[in-house]
Amino acid sequence: MDVLGISGSPSSPSKTVLAVEIALRRAAEHDGVTAELLDLRDRDLVFSDGRDPGDYTGDTRAAIDRVVAADALVVGTPMYRGGYTGRLKNLFDLLPNDALAGKPVGLVATGGTDHHYLALEHELKPIVGFFRAWAVPGAVYANNTHFSAGELVDDGVRARLVDLADTVVTFARRMPRGAAGAAAPDIPRKSAGEA
Ligand SMILES: Cc1cc2nc3c(=O)[nH]c(=O)nc-3n(C[C@H](O)[C@H](O)[C@H](O)COP(=O)(O)O)c2cc1C
Repeated sequence: MDVLGISGSPSSPSKTVLAVEIALRRAAEHDGVTAELLDLRDRDLVFSDGRDPGDYTGDTRAAIDRVVAADALVVGTPMYRGGYTGRLKNLFDLLPNDALAGKPVGLVATGGTDHHYLALEHELKPIVGFFRAWAVPGAVYANNTHFSAGELVDDGVRARLVDLADTVVTFARRMPRGAAGAAAPDIPRKSAGEA
């Protein structure tokens, strides 16, 4: 099983990356699971222009293909203005409609304070729903006091990240990808050069 972590943070170092990596390391402890991070701060993605996802090239093509290949995901973002980052939104806009269909997604968010905790519910779960993916129970939120000297130091948040990884792996093992409702609708897109 291929578990892909995604971080939508543009920052380096990144608290979001630290958190997602904890979940990925846990996922990789399961038999037959490989885990890898797609860190959007390292990728030179073009801005989505509405073309057919198959027409993108270069780093953008590679990132799209990487997401499509994943069996399960852990998606993390810092809170920016009460929602996920523009970088992550751009990745979502670049993906084919069926890129995540039927896949479990563990959600992770970091914020300066707990003020935007519910953005996990109101901002991130709806986009998982759009893609006909499964937002698994136990989304994890961490605030800046949970980090110190480049480490996630809060045991409760660490434990929740471990649980989240276990849930993603369990879900991917037990829920068939083609389960009812997972087929994506056919929404037409422009081809290259088409008005
Ligand atoms: C442009 C910008 C907007 C932000 N907006 C919010 C916000 O609305 N709510 C919040 O709790 N934190 C906000 N923050 C703080 C970050 O979400 C927080 O520090 C986060 O842990 C940074 O994660 P990173 O290190 O992975 O980039 C904002 C930070 C920046 C730079």
